[in-house]
Amino acid sequence: MEQSYHTPVLLQETIAALNVVPDGIYVDCTFGGGGHSRAILEKLDKDGKLVAFDQDENARRNIPKDPRVIFVPHNFRHLQRFLKLHAINVVNGILADLGVSSHQFDEAGRGFSTRFDAPLDMRMDQRQPLTAADIINNYTEQQLHKMFEQYGEVTNAKTLAKTIVELRNTQSLKSIDAFKQSLRGVVKGNPNRYFAQVFQALRIEVNDELGALREMLQQIPPLLKPGCRAAIITFHSLEDRLVKNFFRRGTFDETEENPFIMSKSVNELKMITKKPIEATDEEMKRNPRARSAKLRVAEKVMMV
Ligand SMILES: C[S@@+](CC[C@H](N)C(=O)[O-])C[C@H]1O[C@@H](n2cnc3c(N)ncnc32)[C@H](O)[C@@H]1O
Repeated sequence: MEQSYHTPVLLQETIAALNVVPDGIYVDCTFGGGGHSRAILEKLDKDGKLVAFDQDENARRNIPKDPRVIFVPHNFRHLQRFLKLHAINVVNGILADLGVSSHQFDEAGRGFSTRFDAPLDMRMDQRQPLTAADIINNYTEQQLHKMFEQYGEVTNAKTLAKTIVELRNTQSLKSIDAFKQSLRGVVKGNPNRYFAQVFQALRIEVNDELGALREMLQQIPPLLKPGCRAAIITFHSLEDRLVKNFFRRGTFDETEENPFIMSKSVNELKMITKKPIEATDEEMKRNPRARSAKLRVAEKVMMV
Protein backbone atom coordinates (compact mmCIF):
# COMPACT_ATOMS: atom_id res chain seq x y z
CA MET A 1 0.00 0.00 0.00
CA GLU A 2 1.15 3.58 -0.69
CA GLN A 3 2.31 5.35 2.48
CA SER A 4 0.85 8.63 1.19
CA TYR A 5 -2.67 7.27 0.61
CA HIS A 6 -3.97 8.31 4.03
CA THR A 7 -2.73 8.76 7.59
CA PRO A 8 -5.26 7.26 10.01
CA VAL A 9 -6.55 9.63 12.72
CA LEU A 10 -7.14 8.70 16.37
CA LEU A 11 -5.71 5.26 15.60
CA GLN A 12 -4.80 4.01 19.10
CA GLU A 13 -7.93 5.57 20.63
CA THR A 14 -10.24 3.91 18.09
CA ILE A 15 -8.68 0.46 18.32
CA ALA A 16 -8.64 0.60 22.13
CA ALA A 17 -12.33 1.59 22.12
CA LEU A 18 -13.30 -1.42 20.01
CA ASN A 19 -12.05 -3.99 22.61
CA VAL A 20 -11.02 -6.35 19.80
CA VAL A 21 -11.43 -10.06 20.59
CA PRO A 22 -9.01 -12.24 18.58
CA ASP A 23 -11.58 -14.49 16.91
CA GLY A 24 -14.21 -11.78 16.36
CA ILE A 25 -15.79 -10.36 13.20
CA TYR A 26 -15.16 -6.65 12.66
CA VAL A 27 -16.45 -4.21 10.04
CA ASP A 28 -14.45 -1.24 8.79
CA CYS A 29 -17.08 0.79 6.92
CA THR A 30 -14.47 3.17 5.45
CA PHE A 31 -11.37 1.16 4.51
CA GLY A 32 -9.49 3.92 2.59
CA GLY A 33 -5.77 3.38 3.03
CA GLY A 34 -6.49 0.60 5.53
CA GLY A 35 -4.67 2.13 8.53
CA HIS A 36 -7.42 1.29 11.02
CA SER A 37 -8.09 -2.07 9.38
CA ARG A 38 -4.46 -3.16 9.66
CA ALA A 39 -4.43 -2.31 13.37
CA ILE A 40 -7.55 -4.46 13.86
CA LEU A 41 -6.01 -7.32 11.86
CA GLU A 42 -2.95 -7.24 14.14
CA LYS A 43 -5.25 -8.02 17.06
CA LEU A 44 -7.12 -10.83 15.30
CA ASP A 45 -6.02 -14.47 15.27
CA LYS A 46 -6.51 -16.85 12.35
CA ASP A 47 -10.23 -17.28 13.15
CA GLY A 48 -10.96 -13.54 13.17
CA LYS A 49 -12.52 -11.76 10.20
CA LEU A 50 -12.51 -8.22 8.86
CA VAL A 51 -15.11 -6.95 6.41
CA ALA A 52 -13.86 -3.76 4.73
CA PHE A 53 -16.28 -1.48 2.88
CA ASP A 54 -15.23 1.39 0.59
CA GLN A 55 -17.31 2.86 -2.19
CA ASP A 56 -14.17 4.09 -3.96
CA GLU A 57 -12.65 1.38 -6.20
CA ASN A 58 -9.20 2.94 -5.64
CA ALA A 59 -9.23 1.67 -2.04
CA ARG A 60 -9.01 -1.90 -3.37
CA ARG A 61 -5.29 -1.42 -4.08
CA ASN A 62 -4.66 -1.20 -0.32
CA ILE A 63 -6.41 -4.46 0.56
CA PRO A 64 -3.85 -6.83 2.09
CA LYS A 65 -3.53 -10.37 0.72
CA ASP A 66 -5.02 -11.91 3.83
CA PRO A 67 -7.62 -14.70 3.90
CA ARG A 68 -9.32 -13.02 6.91
CA VAL A 69 -10.28 -9.95 4.85
CA ILE A 70 -13.43 -9.53 2.75
CA PHE A 71 -13.55 -6.35 0.63
CA VAL A 72 -16.96 -4.88 -0.21
CA PRO A 73 -16.59 -2.11 -2.83
CA HIS A 74 -19.93 -0.50 -2.00
CA ASN A 75 -21.58 2.20 0.06
CA PHE A 76 -21.84 1.42 3.78
CA ARG A 77 -25.54 2.34 3.61
CA HIS A 78 -25.94 -1.28 2.41
CA LEU A 79 -24.09 -2.71 5.41
CA GLN A 80 -26.55 -5.42 6.45
CA ARG A 81 -27.31 -6.47 2.91
CA PHE A 82 -23.66 -7.19 2.02
CA LEU A 83 -22.89 -8.80 5.37
CA LYS A 84 -25.85 -11.17 4.83
CA LEU A 85 -24.45 -11.96 1.39
CA HIS A 86 -21.34 -13.19 3.21
CA ALA A 87 -23.49 -15.14 5.71
CA ILE A 88 -22.75 -12.68 8.54
CA ASN A 89 -25.71 -11.70 10.74
CA VAL A 90 -23.96 -10.26 13.80
CA VAL A 91 -20.52 -8.77 14.39
CA ASN A 92 -18.16 -7.92 17.28
CA GLY A 93 -17.41 -4.35 16.26
CA ILE A 94 -18.09 -1.65 13.69
CA LEU A 95 -15.84 1.25 12.76
CA ALA A 96 -16.40 4.25 10.46
CA ASP A 97 -13.91 7.03 9.78
CA LEU A 98 -16.06 9.38 7.72
CA GLY A 99 -15.36 11.73 4.85
CA VAL A 100 -12.76 11.58 2.11
CA SER A 101 -9.23 10.17 2.27
CA SER A 102 -6.13 12.28 1.64
CA HIS A 103 -5.70 10.28 -1.56
CA GLN A 104 -9.09 11.40 -2.89
CA PHE A 105 -8.41 14.96 -1.84
CA ASP A 106 -4.92 15.07 -3.36
CA GLU A 107 -5.82 13.43 -6.66
CA ALA A 108 -6.45 16.52 -8.78
CA GLY A 109 -8.80 14.86 -11.28
CA ARG A 110 -11.32 13.82 -8.62
CA GLY A 111 -12.38 17.43 -8.15
CA PHE A 112 -12.50 17.43 -4.33
CA SER A 113 -9.89 20.11 -3.77
CA THR A 114 -10.03 23.83 -4.48
CA ARG A 115 -6.24 23.70 -5.08
CA PHE A 116 -6.42 22.19 -8.58
CA ASP A 117 -8.30 22.80 -11.79
CA ALA A 118 -10.36 19.77 -12.77
CA PRO A 119 -13.94 18.88 -13.67
CA LEU A 120 -16.36 19.59 -10.80
CA ASP A 121 -16.84 15.93 -9.96
CA MET A 122 -16.46 15.02 -6.22
CA ARG A 123 -17.93 11.52 -6.48
CA MET A 124 -16.39 9.05 -4.05
CA ASP A 125 -18.16 6.29 -6.00
CA GLN A 126 -17.51 6.95 -9.66
CA ARG A 127 -20.27 4.54 -10.69
CA GLN A 128 -22.82 7.05 -9.38
CA PRO A 129 -24.16 9.43 -12.04
CA LEU A 130 -24.53 12.70 -10.03
CA THR A 131 -21.50 15.04 -10.10
CA ALA A 132 -20.93 18.46 -8.52
CA ALA A 133 -21.22 20.01 -12.02
CA ASP A 134 -24.70 18.45 -12.39
CA ILE A 135 -25.77 20.05 -9.12
CA ILE A 136 -24.35 23.48 -10.05
CA ASN A 137 -26.00 23.39 -13.46
CA ASN A 138 -29.38 21.79 -12.66
CA TYR A 139 -30.47 22.45 -9.08
CA THR A 140 -33.01 25.22 -8.55
CA GLU A 141 -31.98 28.41 -6.81
CA GLN A 142 -33.83 27.28 -3.67
CA GLN A 143 -32.09 23.89 -3.65
CA LEU A 144 -28.67 25.52 -4.06
CA HIS A 145 -29.45 28.06 -1.33
CA LYS A 146 -30.49 25.36 1.14
CA MET A 147 -27.48 23.17 0.30
CA PHE A 148 -24.89 25.95 0.75
CA GLU A 149 -26.56 27.17 3.95
CA GLN A 150 -27.06 23.79 5.62
CA TYR A 151 -24.05 21.80 4.47
CA GLY A 152 -21.48 24.58 4.08
CA GLU A 153 -22.73 27.23 6.52
CA VAL A 154 -21.88 29.70 3.73
CA THR A 155 -22.79 33.16 5.11
CA ASN A 156 -24.24 34.54 1.86
CA ALA A 157 -25.74 31.27 0.61
CA LYS A 158 -28.76 33.05 -0.91
CA THR A 159 -26.63 35.46 -2.98
CA LEU A 160 -24.33 32.63 -4.03
CA ALA A 161 -27.27 30.52 -5.25
CA LYS A 162 -28.80 33.45 -7.11
CA THR A 163 -25.47 34.30 -8.79
CA ILE A 164 -24.88 30.70 -9.89
CA VAL A 165 -28.35 30.51 -11.47
CA GLU A 166 -27.74 33.80 -13.35
CA LEU A 167 -24.23 32.88 -14.49
CA ARG A 168 -24.98 29.38 -15.69
CA ASN A 169 -27.18 30.70 -18.52
CA THR A 170 -24.21 32.36 -20.17
CA GLN A 171 -21.11 30.57 -18.84
CA SER A 172 -19.90 27.04 -18.50
CA LEU A 173 -19.58 26.17 -14.81
CA LYS A 174 -18.11 22.70 -15.25
CA SER A 175 -14.54 23.13 -14.06
CA ILE A 176 -13.15 24.23 -10.71
CA ASP A 177 -11.19 27.22 -12.05
CA ALA A 178 -14.10 28.51 -14.16
CA PHE A 179 -16.43 28.12 -11.18
CA LYS A 180 -14.09 29.96 -8.80
CA GLN A 181 -13.30 32.70 -11.32
CA SER A 182 -16.96 33.38 -12.13
CA LEU A 183 -17.83 33.66 -8.44
CA ARG A 184 -14.98 36.02 -7.47
CA GLY A 185 -17.50 38.80 -6.84
CA VAL A 186 -19.59 36.95 -4.25
CA VAL A 187 -16.74 35.69 -2.06
CA LYS A 188 -17.08 36.83 1.57
CA GLY A 189 -13.95 36.92 3.71
CA ASN A 190 -10.96 34.70 3.04
CA PRO A 191 -11.44 33.11 -0.44
CA ASN A 192 -9.76 29.82 0.58
CA ARG A 193 -12.06 29.43 3.54
CA TYR A 194 -15.08 30.53 1.52
CA PHE A 195 -14.49 28.00 -1.25
CA ALA A 196 -13.66 25.29 1.29
CA GLN A 197 -17.20 25.76 2.69
CA VAL A 198 -18.76 25.83 -0.78
CA PHE A 199 -16.89 22.64 -1.72
CA GLN A 200 -17.84 20.92 1.53
CA ALA A 201 -21.50 21.57 0.80
CA LEU A 202 -21.19 20.22 -2.74
CA ARG A 203 -19.30 17.12 -1.59
CA ILE A 204 -21.87 16.29 1.09
CA GLU A 205 -24.67 16.64 -1.46
CA VAL A 206 -22.95 14.70 -4.29
CA ASN A 207 -22.26 11.75 -2.01
CA ASP A 208 -25.44 12.03 0.09
CA GLU A 209 -23.09 11.76 3.06
CA LEU A 210 -25.68 12.46 5.75
CA GLY A 211 -28.27 10.13 4.21
CA ALA A 212 -25.73 7.28 4.02
CA LEU A 213 -24.60 7.94 7.61
CA ARG A 214 -28.19 7.86 8.91
CA GLU A 215 -28.89 4.55 7.15
CA MET A 216 -25.66 3.01 8.41
CA LEU A 217 -26.24 4.10 12.02
CA GLN A 218 -29.70 2.49 12.02
CA GLN A 219 -28.15 -0.85 11.08
CA ILE A 220 -25.70 -0.83 13.99
CA PRO A 221 -28.04 -2.02 16.81
CA PRO A 222 -29.33 -5.12 14.98
CA LEU A 223 -25.81 -6.02 13.78
CA LEU A 224 -23.82 -5.67 16.99
CA LYS A 225 -23.59 -8.54 19.48
CA PRO A 226 -24.59 -7.47 23.03
CA GLY A 227 -21.61 -5.94 24.86
CA CYS A 228 -19.88 -5.08 21.57
CA ARG A 229 -19.04 -1.63 20.25
CA ALA A 230 -19.29 0.82 17.38
CA ALA A 231 -16.74 3.62 16.94
CA ILE A 232 -17.42 6.52 14.58
CA ILE A 233 -15.02 9.34 13.67
CA THR A 234 -16.65 12.49 12.28
CA PHE A 235 -15.14 15.67 10.83
CA HIS A 236 -17.92 18.25 10.98
CA SER A 237 -20.78 19.16 13.27
CA LEU A 238 -23.57 17.88 10.98
CA GLU A 239 -22.18 14.35 11.10
CA ASP A 240 -21.28 14.55 14.78
CA ARG A 241 -24.79 15.64 15.73
CA LEU A 242 -26.33 12.63 13.96
CA VAL A 243 -23.94 10.22 15.68
CA LYS A 244 -24.38 11.87 19.09
CA ASN A 245 -28.17 11.83 18.96
CA PHE A 246 -28.36 8.29 17.64
CA PHE A 247 -25.91 6.85 20.17
CA ARG A 248 -27.54 8.77 23.02
CA ARG A 249 -31.23 8.21 22.23
CA GLY A 250 -31.50 5.69 19.41
CA THR A 251 -33.14 8.34 17.22
CA PHE A 252 -32.14 11.36 15.13
CA ASP A 253 -34.74 13.47 16.86
CA GLU A 254 -33.24 16.61 18.41
CA THR A 255 -35.94 17.03 21.05
CA GLU A 256 -35.79 15.44 24.48
CA GLU A 257 -38.27 12.62 25.17
CA ASN A 258 -41.57 13.90 26.53
CA PRO A 259 -42.00 12.16 29.93
CA PHE A 260 -45.81 12.26 29.52
CA ILE A 261 -45.79 10.20 26.35
CA MET A 262 -45.91 6.48 27.07
CA SER A 263 -44.23 5.05 23.96
CA LYS A 264 -40.58 5.94 24.49
CA SER A 265 -38.25 4.78 21.74
CA VAL A 266 -36.06 1.92 22.92
CA ASN A 267 -32.34 2.55 22.64
CA GLU A 268 -30.27 -0.61 22.31
CA LEU A 269 -27.06 1.39 22.48
CA LYS A 270 -25.29 2.95 25.43
CA MET A 271 -22.97 5.89 24.84
CA ILE A 272 -19.47 5.06 26.13
CA THR A 273 -17.88 8.44 25.40
CA LYS A 274 -19.80 11.12 27.32
CA LYS A 275 -17.68 13.66 25.44
CA PRO A 276 -16.16 12.88 22.05
CA ILE A 277 -12.52 11.79 22.03
CA GLU A 278 -10.31 14.29 20.19
CA ALA A 279 -6.74 14.13 18.93
CA THR A 280 -3.82 15.07 21.16
CA ASP A 281 -1.81 18.23 20.39
CA GLU A 282 0.99 15.99 19.20
CA GLU A 283 -1.29 14.24 16.66
CA MET A 284 -2.77 17.54 15.48
CA LYS A 285 0.73 18.87 14.85
CA ARG A 286 1.74 15.74 12.97
CA ASN A 287 -1.54 15.47 11.05
CA PRO A 288 -3.56 18.71 10.67
CA ARG A 289 -6.54 16.68 9.41
CA ALA A 290 -6.93 15.33 12.96
CA ARG A 291 -7.85 18.80 14.23
CA SER A 292 -11.56 18.44 13.50
CA ALA A 293 -11.83 14.70 14.24
CA LYS A 294 -14.27 13.55 16.94
CA LEU A 295 -14.56 9.92 17.98
CA ARG A 296 -17.76 8.67 19.60
CA VAL A 297 -18.21 5.14 20.88
CA ALA A 298 -21.38 3.21 21.76
CA GLU A 299 -21.97 -0.27 23.14
CA LYS A 300 -24.89 -2.59 22.50
CA VAL A 301 -26.60 -3.16 25.82
CA MET A 302 -26.92 -6.70 27.14
CA MET A 303 -30.70 -6.57 27.50
CA VAL A 304 -33.21 -3.84 26.76
C1 LIG B 1 -11.27 9.11 5.92
S1 LIG B 1 -11.11 7.85 4.77
C2 LIG B 1 -10.79 6.42 5.76
C3 LIG B 1 -9.36 6.21 6.06
C4 LIG B 1 -9.03 4.92 6.76
N1 LIG B 1 -9.62 4.83 8.07
C5 LIG B 1 -7.54 4.73 6.83
O1 LIG B 1 -7.02 4.47 7.93
O2 LIG B 1 -6.88 4.82 5.80
C6 LIG B 1 -12.76 7.56 4.28
C7 LIG B 1 -12.91 6.46 3.24
O3 LIG B 1 -14.26 6.03 3.31
C8 LIG B 1 -14.84 5.97 2.05
N2 LIG B 1 -16.26 6.28 2.24
C9 LIG B 1 -16.79 7.47 2.63
N3 LIG B 1 -18.12 7.39 2.70
C10 LIG B 1 -18.44 6.12 2.36
C11 LIG B 1 -19.67 5.40 2.25
N4 LIG B 1 -20.84 6.00 2.47
N5 LIG B 1 -19.62 4.10 1.89
C12 LIG B 1 -18.44 3.48 1.65
N6 LIG B 1 -17.25 4.11 1.72
C13 LIG B 1 -17.24 5.40 2.07
C14 LIG B 1 -14.09 6.95 1.20
O4 LIG B 1 -14.11 6.54 -0.15
C15 LIG B 1 -12.68 6.92 1.81
O5 LIG B 1 -11.85 6.02 1.15
